Amino acid sequence: MGAQELDLTGLRRVYGRTGSRLFYTRVARNARHWGWTEPGQSKWRLWRAQRQLEDVLGRKLALPTGASVLDAGCGAGVVARAMADRFGLAVTGVDVLDIHLAEARRLSARAAGGGGAGARTAAPPSFSWGDYHRLPFEDDTFDGAYSMETLVHSYDPPRALAEFHRVLRPGGRLVLLGPMSTVPLDELTPQARSVLEPYLDAMVFPGAKIYHARNMPQLLADAGFEVEEALDATPYYEPTSEAVYAYFRLPWAVLRRVGDPARWLNLRSTVEMYAVREYIAWYVHTAVKPAARPATGPRAVPAGPVVGPDPAG
Ligand SMILES: C[S@@+](CC[C@H](N)C(=O)[O-])C[C@H]1O[C@@H](n2cnc3c(N)ncnc32)[C@H](O)[C@@H]1O
Repeated sequence: MGAQELDLTGLRRVYGRTGSRLFYTRVARNARHWGWTEPGQSKWRLWRAQRQLEDVLGRKLALPTGASVLDAGCGAGVVARAMADRFGLAVTGVDVLDIHLAEARRLSARAAGGGGAGARTAAPPSFSWGDYHRLPFEDDTFDGAYSMETLVHSYDPPRALAEFHRVLRPGGRLVLLGPMSTVPLDELTPQARSVLEPYLDAMVFPGAKIYHARNMPQLLADAGFEVEEALDATPYYEPTSEAVYAYFRLPWAVLRRVGDPARWLNLRSTVEMYAVREYIAWYVHTAVKPAARPATGPRAVPAGPVVGPDPAG
């Protein structure tokens, strides 16, 4: 298991360095997530794929206009704005990096100023500091919650899932999207593990050492959820992996020689991840908090160190 607490220093390294920020702002246009490509579509249209992935999330949430939704790990708020604009949801985004929250607020203000909001917007998303292991919300607050490629950063996924369960109303819906190992790490070949594990450490992905495609449904059930669907969506994600690899293979080969490779962590990760892609699956898990609590109930969130707002953001 990895660290037992929030690694803000590591997260700042992953997202705060110049290379990362250039990658996410210029290449990914502020979205910090992969894309969904339908069969027959071109893999090169990365931004369309990203918008389609957001649409998949909105459809899986399947909530009525005006429903309140938690975005756990909102980044620059691209997904939150998509849920508000295209699905009319009232989104509360939390993140642990103040650099991301500042960007989310700035971009949302700009979108509102430019009339960017769609016809279905219930209210502009709000963004505040929050750690999904210890959410600053009352029990039974939200109709829905989602994590778009954020749970990999969790040092204690069962605890995060228990928090999602706690803040959802009975009947509330949870959608988790993201990559995971197809099998437990100790079942990988030594060669695959020697590539994958340093990558998980460099990207601060402790969660990916704890959950994997096989145990995630059980972790959700242990947290008190009924699993509606565990969708292996890898074929829809693979075209994005292929395109990103093709774009960045050469830049990474050059930059690792001429500069400090640590500055280009995201380039490195997209290229290195490709080498072990057969062990990585992309899943969409949809789960529901039952209307009546099960007799055994979810595991309580234990007391732990309180980590305050990111002061260096
Ligand atoms: C890959 S980015 C995804 C951002 C956003 N969901 C998107 O798709 O654009 C992961 C995000 O999770 C945030 N994060 C990591 N650990 C977190 C935690 N414990 N609580 C809340 N957010 C967290 C990071 O700061 C980062 O913004």
